Amino acid sequence: MPLRNIGPVENFPVGKGVCLEIDGKRIAVFNTTGQYYAIDDTCPHAGGSFSEGAMTGSVVRCPLHGATADVRTGSCSPPARADVETYDISCDSTDLFIDL
Ligand code: FES
Repeated sequence: MPLRNIGPVENFPVGKGVCLEIDGKRIAVFNTTGQYYAIDDTCPHAGGSFSEGAMTGSVVRCPLHGATADVRTGSCSPPARADVETYDISCDSTDLFIDL
């Protein structure tokens, strides 16, 4: 699968999530102090948006009921009962690329 350019690195600020819709999928991209990660944006509990949650290190908290997701692994905590998919992110000197 070819890498998809998702835009310049300035669009992905440290400690924030950015939601992208790619091929009908909502994907949340996170910048944890210069490391970029991507997971499914939709919380498996009841559809909250992880990209709108607060981050602590590599963990983001769903804004609806507090499930957490580790953006490195996709591992989620209750009340989510499943994990989320992760996607590889790479960057060149200016842009980020996602491997779907
Ligand atoms: S929708 Fe995410 S914890 Fe409920």
